[in-house]
Amino acid sequence: MALTRMTAEEAAKLIKHGDSVGFSGFTHAGCPKAVPRALAALAEEEHAAGREFKIGMFTGASTGDSIDGALARAKAVSFRTPYQTTGDMRGAINAGEVQYFDLHLSTLAQDLRYGFYGPVDVAIIEACDVTEDGQIVPTVGVGISPTVCRLAKKVIVELNSWHPRELRGMHDLTQLQDPPMRVDTGITAVRDRVGADHIHVDPAKIVVVEVNEPNEGSGFAPVDEVTRKIGENVAAFFVAEMKAGRIPESFLPIQSGVGNIANAVLAALADCPAIPDLEVYTEVIQDAVIDMLESGRVKFASGSSLTVSNPTMDRIYAKLPFFKERVMLRPTEYSNNPEIVRRLGIIAMNTALEADIFGNVNSTNVMGSKIMNGVGGSGDFTRAAYLSIFLTPSTAKGGKISAFVPMVSHTDHNEHDVKVMISEYGVADLRGKSPRQRAETIIENCVHPDYRPLLRKYLESGAKGQTPVNLDTAFAFHKAFIATGDMMNADLR
Ligand code: COA
Repeated sequence: MALTRMTAEEAAKLIKHGDSVGFSGFTHAGCPKAVPRALAALAEEEHAAGREFKIGMFTGASTGDSIDGALARAKAVSFRTPYQTTGDMRGAINAGEVQYFDLHLSTLAQDLRYGFYGPVDVAIIEACDVTEDGQIVPTVGVGISPTVCRLAKKVIVELNSWHPRELRGMHDLTQLQDPPMRVDTGITAVRDRVGADHIHVDPAKIVVVEVNEPNEGSGFAPVDEVTRKIGENVAAFFVAEMKAGRIPESFLPIQSGVGNIANAVLAALADCPAIPDLEVYTEVIQDAVIDMLESGRVKFASGSSLTVSNPTMDRIYAKLPFFKERVMLRPTEYSNNPEIVRRLGIIAMNTALEADIFGNVNSTNVMGSKIMNGVGGSGDFTRAAYLSIFLTPSTAKGGKISAFVPMVSHTDHNEHDVKVMISEYGVADLRGKSPRQRAETIIENCVHPDYRPLLRKYLESGAKGQTPVNLDTAFAFHKAFIATGDMMNADLR
């Protein structure tokens, strides 16, 4: 029986007010575009006709503008999880229009299977190939696709011919069993393959929409003085750890977070001859990793997506057989699986919004209350890592915000999980240190010199006891920023 084919507008009409929709992809990579845009237009039509139209959204991670942007602008979202980065969706969440719950990315697929968040009514999956017997080959982002394909009553496949069919073979697609039947993942090395090259779905559930659209990704900011220095500090720290015998000569697989800082750090590692060629076990494979695969500085990269700019995507497609031998794309419950992270001994590097002088990290909520993006995979990796590192420029907003504060205004990663802190000023090695010692090393090595006297004063005013906190002034930096626009005005009494 031939698969059902229709336009994006017809497919959007399969989705009803109140439905929960699971989207393929991870970051902009692998996300459908035409059907979500048609869904946003449908929601606007319904609203104009005086009818309610909102859906719930499950995604692998953030998405492109055609999903989060278009649906937020159309006021078509009732709830959203687990991670987002577009201005429109962030604004709608912070305005209370969308109920957002933040989640470790590795857990969403299993939470959906456990039924924690209700049914998945429809899945919308970008694919480079779909066969009459129901084999779906994703494009360059996997996320929660295998699970939402299994759970959804209807699977809309956005077959995007911008991506070559020959991508088949780059993926490793399977799902974890649910307790009490779960066995180990079977992954004992970065390049181990445990799944199939496609997702199998009952063809009767499939509807195909044919499109040809490029990815919505943008490039990275060029490495600047601060990110270059952070990268150099990371490289120097690794070299010292190898010399001390705490990182083996052959090195350990690395995970690096999203964004410009992570990209700059990878570039610094590539330039450091004392660091051997690496393996990467991460969630997003960014442009710098592609450069390092081409130069041989990265031997193999496993992730959930190729989150690269379109010129880099063109380079990958021009040399697809080369990259298929060196890249594997997995569902997030495998790419971010804490069991695998602990077993492989991954070195995790993620970025903090702010950290406190005791080593607690806020990755998500500006001034404690406004969501930035979400915890993403940083928690999946941080707690299970061989070595967990947080990176941050010492200040933000032209120096008016210190990234290091007396107490974080929201906690994503706590002092028990954060082992090393690195800014452009240096490295604070927190291993084996008491809270007071951690505070001293962070102030001396990572804090911007302008803020060091203030934080020393805070530390001296702290209560006697294991953790020298002063409850009267713990949020003095944040209060000063909110009141005067500058943390330097903190009133520490
Ligand atoms: N208070 C308020 N704003 C702050 C801030 C702070 N303490 N620290 C940074 N910012 C602002 C910056 O000024 C910048 O604002 P702008 O976009 O208006 O210029 C923005 O936050 C982003 O900061 P930037 O320094 O450019 O870093 P980034 O792009 O690497 O993002 C995070 C940093 C923390 C937001 C980002 O890494 C993130 O979302 N992390 C959580 C998820 C995660 O770690 N995923 C990876 C797991 S694999």
